[in-house]
Amino acid sequence: MLGEIQLISIIGAGRVGTIAALNMLRMHIADITLIDIVDKLAEGEAMDMIQASPILQFDGKIKGSTNFEDLKGSELVIIIAGSARKPGTSRLDLTRTNAKIISSIVEKIVKYAPECKIMMVTNPVDIMTYIAFKKSGFEKNRVFGMGGLLDSLRYRSLIANEVGISREDVNGFVIGEHGDHMIPLTDFTSISGIPIEYMMKKDRIEKIVEKTKTGGMDVISRKGSTVYGPSSAIAFMVESILKGKNRIVSASVIPHGEYGLKDVAIGLPIILGKNGIERIIELNFDEEIRKRLLDAASIIKSSISDVKDYF
Ligand code: NAI
Repeated sequence: MLGEIQLISIIGAGRVGTIAALNMLRMHIADITLIDIVDKLAEGEAMDMIQASPILQFDGKIKGSTNFEDLKGSELVIIIAGSARKPGTSRLDLTRTNAKIISSIVEKIVKYAPECKIMMVTNPVDIMTYIAFKKSGFEKNRVFGMGGLLDSLRYRSLIANEVGISREDVNGFVIGEHGDHMIPLTDFTSISGIPIEYMMKKDRIEKIVEKTKTGGMDVISRKGSTVYGPSSAIAFMVESILKGKNRIVSASVIPHGEYGLKDVAIGLPIILGKNGIERIIELNFDEEIRKRLLDAASIIKSSISDVKDYF
């Protein structure tokens, strides 16, 4: 790489972690340390990517490891380790399993990369982000989760398809829980600056809102997991941080009074830059959206209370 080389680490060399790493190498944004507990897995993934580099044209370094000491010097650590839901596993069981994993990983991050920012990806992402925030003791701008951006990508793609225009021209975002209680913000959605209601009828917008909510499950029910959407969203967020691009995204953050919220992690619009969360953007929502946001926050809080032993 040319210029200042920044190091990021990814914990979890599974489906999402590896494709996120490859995306970032191809975007020339950082050198990467990939860590997994499975012996030699991350090492093998790193070798495989390097072998693709002469054709994919990247010179960034990637190292695979099982040793958390290799987190040293990381500007940003992305956590994508953990279990996915299996048949017969309840949501609560999954939350507890991943809470335990995240709690032990965060301890190691604090030990080896105390100055880093943490991006959480492991699900349920809002709850895991909160655990990382509490357990690390890091300032609120240094701990955030990827979830809302992925929901926003699904929302934007569906609108583009419905209107028959370029997916690049749709702007808009989804806040709230990364889950059933997500809130697509139709009043803040535009197509190249043209408010969405000029281009779509209300009932069609409502259908898209409902379809956005099932967007993840529509993929999971067919192929078992989502990979390309999340790994692109991760790379986009990393680029905004490392290059200080200050892009506006929806991400899971810990509000300190914004929207009347605190002691929770929830998807809100933010500016993402060199310091991680540069600012939470406060919008004037109508009463209905405000209520749905507060409802989503109470649902997340109640799940957080189920795993409070882990932070
Ligand atoms: P995967 O099963 O392919 O990979 C998980 C990896 O984590 C495995 O290689 C496993 O060995 C590793 N791992 C487990 N415990 C570990 C530990 N203590 N230290 C280091 N590595 C450990 O799973 P996939 O599909 O990559 O998903 C990973 C997580 O990301 C899941 O929780 C999934 O639900 C979540 N996810 C979140 C999204 C979001 O929008 N926030 C989108 C897609 C996935």
